[in-house]
Amino acid sequence: MNRFMHQTRPYLLGQRKSPFAWNACAMTAATWSRSPPSSTSGSSVLGSHRRLATHAAIPSSSSSLSALSPLSVPQLTAPDPSYATHRSHLRQVAAHLEEHGILKISLRFPDTSSAFLHQLLLGLHAHEGHQLPISHSAGRGWFWDVRPVDPASFSSSTSAPSSSSSDFSSESLPTAYQSGSAHQARSETMGEFPWHTDCSYENPPPRYFALQVLQHDRRGGGTLSVMDVRRLVSTGEHLSPAARAVLATPQFRMAIPPEFIKDPCRDSIVGSLLAIEPTAAATAETSRLLGGPGGSLPSPSSPPSADAESSPASHSVASKWMRTSMRFRGDIITPLTDEAAQALDELDAALCRAGGQSRYTMHLSSHDMPTGTILLVDNRRWLHARNEVRDAQRHLRRVRWDAVAF
Ligand SMILES: [Fe+2]
Repeated sequence: MNRFMHQTRPYLLGQRKSPFAWNACAMTAATWSRSPPSSTSGSSVLGSHRRLATHAAIPSSSSSLSALSPLSVPQLTAPDPSYATHRSHLRQVAAHLEEHGILKISLRFPDTSSAFLHQLLLGLHAHEGHQLPISHSAGRGWFWDVRPVDPASFSSSTSAPSSSSSDFSSESLPTAYQSGSAHQARSETMGEFPWHTDCSYENPPPRYFALQVLQHDRRGGGTLSVMDVRRLVSTGEHLSPAARAVLATPQFRMAIPPEFIKDPCRDSIVGSLLAIEPTAAATAETSRLLGGPGGSLPSPSSPPSADAESSPASHSVASKWMRTSMRFRGDIITPLTDEAAQALDELDAALCRAGGQSRYTMHLSSHDMPTGTILLVDNRRWLHARNEVRDAQRHLRRVRWDAVAF
């Protein structure tokens, strides 16, 4: 058994009646604690874990935090396939992703081959500066089918031909047994996913991913939850300045899941979980100020302090100048020092709490994302999670793109 199969990261239930079964966090305020690896640990050895019975008291919400604007997902409609090539549509898509980091596109036409999404990504690359999609693993293409696959298939069909080949050439061949190895990706199960960003083990990880809903879960499962990283980090409600500073240093090893190894010689990377960089507005303002007297900017190299970021107004100011990014998948991360382990525990607890608060988290059900929906997400700005799939025919198609330095 995989050593981490027992490790589920539960988070609090949302205001909406939650479909999630991961309620251990809410009920016991328990979390996982990690220890740095011993000096004999190999690069693929993951850290040891122990369960804590208690956790620090959960702080009460302040009135200023509750004044944060409600989270929402902007939406565009594509009446026909040609919208994928309309410059105005491409500009809108890029602008929403830059401003909100999340966008829903509703297709008003059938597109089982994902031709619209394929064309859209080519357009974003050609006209909006996005990098092309990344392949999912060695020998795999741009697109990946997220749907339950019988585990028995993996022992006998690693080279099985596609049962759902698309119209695309070699860069996109969704298949029933797409891993191309004996390892089943968790996206090919019906299980829940705790909070994570995609490809945290990639260097650099993709900035964006999209999910096209080819068949929504007709039994009410498979709800996708998203958590605003910038709010989580900058409001100061859940993460201490000390923890934020440590999370922004390269004290974490991230193991590459076997099904996504591209280079046989590399099975992990070492890096930070947080990155704070100046926004385009900050860069422009810096240039302006360099040409004029006075003025100063927040330092993009330092995490914002809790005191400075504990109000919606200061959060808004910080968001204007600094872009906070996160990469995270708890079951593959090993902290390399004691302070990294402590910071990671604090992040665990933060995810537990913020997952149940609507000012940080949205729950997107099948009703919110019916068949024909494409959800585009800034993979560094939004953590995401999924509850258990109930409909074995649920079928999403995923693509990731714009891999730039973290
Ligand atoms: Fe994911």
